[in-house]
Amino acid sequence: MLHSKPVLQLTEDGSHTLCIESLNETYHSYAGALTESIHVFIQKGFEVMKSQKEVSILEVGFGTGLNALLTLEQAKKNNQIVTYQSLEPYPIPLDLVAQLQFDYLTEEDEMKVYLNKLHTCSANKQEAVSPFFNFTRIESTLQDAELDLVYDVVYFDAFAPKKQPEMWEIETLQKCAQLLRKGGIFITYCANGQFKRNLRSLGFELFNPPGIKGRREITQAIKL
Ligand SMILES: C[S@@+](CC[C@H](N)C(=O)[O-])C[C@H]1O[C@@H](n2cnc3c(N)ncnc32)[C@H](O)[C@@H]1O
Repeated sequence: MLHSKPVLQLTEDGSHTLCIESLNETYHSYAGALTESIHVFIQKGFEVMKSQKEVSILEVGFGTGLNALLTLEQAKKNNQIVTYQSLEPYPIPLDLVAQLQFDYLTEEDEMKVYLNKLHTCSANKQEAVSPFFNFTRIESTLQDAELDLVYDVVYFDAFAPKKQPEMWEIETLQKCAQLLRKGGIFITYCANGQFKRNLRSLGFELFNPPGIKGRREITQAIKL
């Protein structure tokens, strides 16, 4: 699926992301990688489960590891234990991870260690990356993955429907729906019309809060 090696890209909030130039597609919003990850996945996804002592999360698209790192940090602040499984069929090289400089996004020294662990731990094997974060990086596509957990939250962070349409089709979304518990949250930056109709037909109730900097809506869906 990937057409060229990702290259570094600066976003408007000063944080970095990656860009696949042949697809003209970035791993995060140009308006701000850090701002988007916090607003969409942490605030509208993970934080909804704040009252739970233990939370299980499936991420579709590990990419740079930014969502995982921010969830790890928030889990510590909230004193929650997170089981986080993240799918990534195309891991990025470690030299590129270093160039992202995500370790400067946090004042806590230990976050540098955690970021490195997220990218270097053995694939397909659960590891306690921190006392609050049990992590598995699954080297597989969503379509091929054999997953046996039932999750509280799905972070759906695939490339956009125009660039990778198969990720947003009903068969693919159905797999996520089956993996979520009732009352679980499916969260994504996208609010494409057909995608939203697909989610409704799979039994989700949809909410569309604003995206970052008042830009396009995002989708927060609750499994009924
Ligand atoms: C928008 S980026 C993800 C950004 C990531 N969450 C982050 O914080 O950097 C989309 C990711 O999905 C991955 N991907 C591509 N095809 C996939 C598939 N079929 N199943 C799961 N992930 C896939 C890509 O390699 C890429 O890393």
